[in-house]
Amino acid sequence: MFPENNAWTLQLPVLLPQMITFAPMNKIFQKRSKILVTCAKRISPYLRDEIQQLGYSIDEEWSTGVAITGTLRDCMRLNMNIRTGNQVMFLLETFKCTNADELYRHLYTMAWEDLIEVDGYLCVTSNVNNPSIDNTMFANVRVKDAIVDRIKEKKGARPNSGSDRNRTVIHLYWQEDEASVYIDTTGETLVKHNYRKLPGKAPMQEGLAAATIMASRWDRRSNFVNPMCGSGTLAIEAALLATNRVPGLLRNNYGFMHIKGYDEAVYEAEFRSIEEKVNDQVDFRIVATDNDPRVMEAARVNADIAGVAGMIEFKECDFLETDVPQDKGGVVMFNPEYGERLGEYEALELVYKSLGDFMKQKCKGYFGYILTASPNLAKKVGLKATRKLEFYNSKLDCRLLEYELYGGTRRTDFGPPAGDQH
Ligand SMILES: C[S@@+](CC[C@H](N)C(=O)[O-])C[C@H]1O[C@@H](n2cnc3c(N)ncnc32)[C@H](O)[C@@H]1O
Repeated sequence: MFPENNAWTLQLPVLLPQMITFAPMNKIFQKRSKILVTCAKRISPYLRDEIQQLGYSIDEEWSTGVAITGTLRDCMRLNMNIRTGNQVMFLLETFKCTNADELYRHLYTMAWEDLIEVDGYLCVTSNVNNPSIDNTMFANVRVKDAIVDRIKEKKGARPNSGSDRNRTVIHLYWQEDEASVYIDTTGETLVKHNYRKLPGKAPMQEGLAAATIMASRWDRRSNFVNPMCGSGTLAIEAALLATNRVPGLLRNNYGFMHIKGYDEAVYEAEFRSIEEKVNDQVDFRIVATDNDPRVMEAARVNADIAGVAGMIEFKECDFLETDVPQDKGGVVMFNPEYGERLGEYEALELVYKSLGDFMKQKCKGYFGYILTASPNLAKKVGLKATRKLEFYNSKLDCRLLEYELYGGTRRTDFGPPAGDQH
């Protein structure tokens, strides 16, 4: 563990009791309500910045998400535009509830027939902490039963249900005696950006890669160098950021599309708007290298799917041979292995030492970054980190270590990185 790491505590939003009665189905997309956007632990500062840049003000922020107020149309925009989120949930109702029978009875009063087609498909997810429930699957089943029983009563037939998240998803957030029901307007998580068809070794989640770049001092006008690129996630995310390509360009199914009253014209208008914002005019270089020919091939294929293959200079080589452009500064970012298997550690000590030498000698005028889960290996870099930013890579406690590599002339005006104001 990193010595300075504080035990992580789950901070959940404080939900004020509120009642959002269903609007007639053709109005549900205009109704304003609480919207929760969830993310992986420690990502919320970057998610918050993204949401603010879309013009929304933040009502609450906690370590795994943020809350705003808006409509289902806003949920559509958020789903298509954000890079660092997981799910976008639209609050339907919050109510008092002490056990599963009360839960069923309350949900049965809600006009689900206005939201879900009788021939639709429903998946229920939940986050439950109530003394009467020892198996969250049971709570999910009660939610599903209430919804399908209500629709059968009103319409004479009921939608199918199951665990696939590719159609209507309803989320239950039930803590102690208060339950909230949300439409999960996302469905399958947003954390995958849909270009990585071929994995490398230990690939980073796309949302995490985007967040680490946002956390860096990269200004999207200077060079971005990614030795040890693996499946190319960091280099591809950098190219996507620099050209204003948002994840919605590579995805065509969301939970909101399976809500009654969904207007495809609104989605198409937002799609055109994100397409129009793409700007391929860049005058810096993105360089990505790896010494494994198989992962290099995967990186090229993935970049092609992402639409940015032409922007990234890929080269199969040892990281020490990476061509670091000297015309102007930028960012050099590594996600090396951490040595989880026995016997790897000693070899990696030398690798991490070489990373330090490489940055010192070849990356003058750059900001260097290493994302690692190993504090001991990080010490071998032999450079003093100017910042240590906390992340999780999957379940591993990680740091993004920043090194200011003085020397040469830095010709870029690096502004403050994202997420810095908190
Ligand atoms: C943890 S993976 C990087 C994963 C990457 N961020 C992704 O999302 O796919 C580390 C990569 O470093 C590469 N690597 C290890 N030693 C190397 C070396 N000496 N020179 C170049 N690449 C190396 C491996 O082939 C592997 O792809």
